[in-house]
Amino acid sequence: MTPGADPSTFSGRTGLTFPRRAAVGAAFVLIVIAAAYFARGGADAEPLPGPPLREVAKKQGMELGTAVRGDALERNRAYRQIAAAQFSTVTPENDMKWFAIEPERGDFDFGPADDIVERAREANQKVRGHTLVWHAQLPGWVKELGAKDLRQATREHIHAVMGHYDEDVGVWDVVNEPVSDDGELRRSVFMRRLGPGYIADAFRTARAADADAKLYLNEIGAEGINAKSNRLYELVRRLKAQGVPIDGVGFQAHANLDGLPGDFVANMRRFKALGLDIAITEADVGLPVPADPGELQAQARIYREIVRSCRAVDCRSLTFWGFTDGRSWISETQAGMGAATLLDEALRPKPAFSAVQQALGG
Ligand code: G3I
Repeated sequence: MTPGADPSTFSGRTGLTFPRRAAVGAAFVLIVIAAAYFARGGADAEPLPGPPLREVAKKQGMELGTAVRGDALERNRAYRQIAAAQFSTVTPENDMKWFAIEPERGDFDFGPADDIVERAREANQKVRGHTLVWHAQLPGWVKELGAKDLRQATREHIHAVMGHYDEDVGVWDVVNEPVSDDGELRRSVFMRRLGPGYIADAFRTARAADADAKLYLNEIGAEGINAKSNRLYELVRRLKAQGVPIDGVGFQAHANLDGLPGDFVANMRRFKALGLDIAITEADVGLPVPADPGELQAQARIYREIVRSCRAVDCRSLTFWGFTDGRSWISETQAGMGAATLLDEALRPKPAFSAVQQALGG
C-alpha cells in the first residue's frame, strides 16, 4: 500500500476496493460454510428424552425397528442420527421393492438399498428385507409376462436379491399381502397367472436362495380375528403342514384412532401356536390433521397397546413404519390424515414417543 493511502478504499491487485473485497470474502466464507452444512445434511438432531428406544427394547430381548428411506438417510443428518440412535433394526420402506431393484428384467439396481445396508452396518443395526413378492410397486414388465415367464422371473428375482444380501439381511418378507380384505387370496398378477401355488413356490425358492434367512409372510389388516385373518391362518397352517419353509408371520399394524382390534393378541397367539415367529412389522397410528392434544394422547395410548401386544406374544421384533411425521406414507397418501409417527415433522417427540419408551420398560 502506498504510505498515506486510505486503507478503506485500497484496491490492490484485485481491482476491488477494500469494502468490496471484504464483502466478497465474507460471502465466500458463508458459501463455504453453507456448502459444508448441506453436504453433511443440515443440523444435528436435538437430543430425545430418556434412554434410546433400542436400548430399552434390548433389555426386554426385543428388536425395535423403523422403516427408513434412503434419500432421507443421505440428505438429512438429524434423520440419520435418530434412526441410528433409536432403532436396532431397519426396513427399507421402498428401496428393496421389485420396481426399485429390478426395473428391467435382469437389470438390477442395488445402489440405493446397498446404501441403506451400509448405514445399518455402521449403526450396528439389522436389516429386515422388504419385500420380494408383492402385487404393488412392481415394474411394468412383470405384469406383461405369461405364466411360464412370470414363474421364472419371480424365481430369478428372489435368487438375485437374496443372494446379493446374503450376508446382510437375515429376515425377508418373502410374500407380502397375499390375502384380500374379503378373505380370498388376492387376485394379484401372481395369483391370476400362477394360481395359489405361487406362495409356496416363493418360500421354497427363498429357502434355496438363503438357507439361514428367516422367511416371513407379511400381511396388512389381519390384526383382528376376522375373515381375512382366518384365511391367512388357513393359508399358513397348510404351508406348514406341507413342509413349506415359512418361519414367521408379520402383522403390519397400521392403525388409526379406532386402535387395534381387542383380539389382536389372541389372533397372534393362534399363529404362534402353529410354530411360527411373530413380528409387528409396520406399526403407525394415523390421525386426522391437524391433530389436537387429546388425539395425540389417544395416539400415545394406542402405541402403548401395540408395544404391549408385541410383548404379550413374545414377538421377535417390532417395527414402526417411519419415525417422523415429515416422512410418513399416511400424510403422503391419505387425504386429511397424517401425524402418524412418534416424532413430529421437526423431529420433536410426541406423547407417543414417551409412551413407547415406558411400555418398553424404560
Ligand atoms: O418414486 C416416486 C418419485 O419419483 C416421485 O417424485 C414421488 C411423488 O409422489 O413419488 C414417488 O413414488 C412414491 C413411492 O412410494 C416411492 O417413494 C409413490 O408416490 C408412493 O405412492 C409410494 O408409496 C409407498 C407405498 O408403500 C406404495 O404402495 C409408501 O412410501 C410406503 O410406505 C408403502 O409401504 C407399504 C408397505 O410396503 C407394505 N404395506 C403397506 C405399506 C403402506 O402402504
